[in-house]
Amino acid sequence: MSNTLALLGGTPTRSKPFPTWPIFGREEEDAVLRALRSAKWGKLDGGEVKRFEERFAAYCGAKHGIAVVNGTVSLRIALMAAGIEAGDEVIIPPYTFFATASAVVEANATPIFVDIDRATFNIDPAAIEAAVTKRTRAIIPVHLGGLPCDMDAIMAIAQRHGLVVVEDAAHAHGSTYKGRRVGGIGHMGSFSFQSSKNLTCGEGGIITTNDDTFAERCRSIHNCGRVPGGAWYEHHVISGNYRLGEFAGAILNCQLDRLDEQTDTRDANGKHLDKQLAMIPGITPQRRDASTTRNAQHLYCMRYDEGTFGVPRATVIDALVAEGIPVSPGYVLPLHRQPMFINRAFGPYTAVRDLDFAASDVPNVERICSSEGLWLTQNVLLGTQADMNGIVAGFEKVYEHRHALAGGMPAVAGTAR
Ligand SMILES: Cc1ncc(COP(=O)(O)O)c(C=O)c1O
Repeated sequence: MSNTLALLGGTPTRSKPFPTWPIFGREEEDAVLRALRSAKWGKLDGGEVKRFEERFAAYCGAKHGIAVVNGTVSLRIALMAAGIEAGDEVIIPPYTFFATASAVVEANATPIFVDIDRATFNIDPAAIEAAVTKRTRAIIPVHLGGLPCDMDAIMAIAQRHGLVVVEDAAHAHGSTYKGRRVGGIGHMGSFSFQSSKNLTCGEGGIITTNDDTFAERCRSIHNCGRVPGGAWYEHHVISGNYRLGEFAGAILNCQLDRLDEQTDTRDANGKHLDKQLAMIPGITPQRRDASTTRNAQHLYCMRYDEGTFGVPRATVIDALVAEGIPVSPGYVLPLHRQPMFINRAFGPYTAVRDLDFAASDVPNVERICSSEGLWLTQNVLLGTQADMNGIVAGFEKVYEHRHALAGGMPAVAGTAR
């Protein structure tokens, strides 16, 4: 493979598009129409959301599922159900979507940002242990890209210190850790069904739990503080209407039928890419060890080494995209340095402690955000093995022609392996 880089006028490695998302068909059309014609469009009237809650909870190995309007609210409700109070601390990684942190602030608590393991991109249990104080009440491990966190270590820390673990499984529908589905391992799990997610209805979320008390509290909080047996206009706790609607439930029931097959495809393709991409100098796939028995691969994450390629990450991304490989840098501004934290723009949530969030000691996160992180998205992983080989070929070509990218020596034909 010695033709010129597409970025410099050559022929792209790939011109075939990857699968688009979402995937739907007649099943979804029929289900939405059924919900429409039932004239029961709200969760309290119809059966779609209730059925989905039961099915998805069982799928996760959890006793209860409480479906809500999105995966931000599900985190906040889980924290409220855990009994988080003003001034409490919640340990989270800053390498995640904004919601993991905003939910903590919206619970009037203080996020404590701890570092991730550079190899796995997941929260580092040793960093959690070091951050526990007498104010710590909860931990939110995020299964980044679908790769399960080190849940044995995290649950052991939680048990030692009396903490509640809320798994942020927004990326990890169907991932398994030592054979157990995520969302059923911590005290509560939180999932998102937003448009990009592996299980989607456009907008939605769910809390999963095996704990009857937490489930009862979540149900009440998502339903205006109502309690079983209580009157309709009787409201027991600060709460709201966070119930998911029936059209969304109807779609989720169909999407859940598709989830396992899609997850198997992504998981197999992820393993294939792990082997192939690891052979390219300067590219290190997110490390998957034996504890990951299935990876939902909402993202396929890698680390890029600028020293090996001799050009900044942005240049290699441009080159790969030109080759038809849709990579992105992922999160580039870590949460602890987002304007909201710099400016303490917390609105009415006055109990968030006056910490210097930007000074959080998270060197691995800084490095991955600023120069190392590379992502592919889950729809790409739904391609064929030939598509995956095309990705590998694109990376190989860009590696081989790295000197041309740097504007230096002409590329030397040969193999990257
Ligand atoms: C890790 C993580 N947590 C939480 C959320 C929040 O979900 P939602 O967008 O449904 O509110 C997301 C969604 O993007 C996410 O990626």
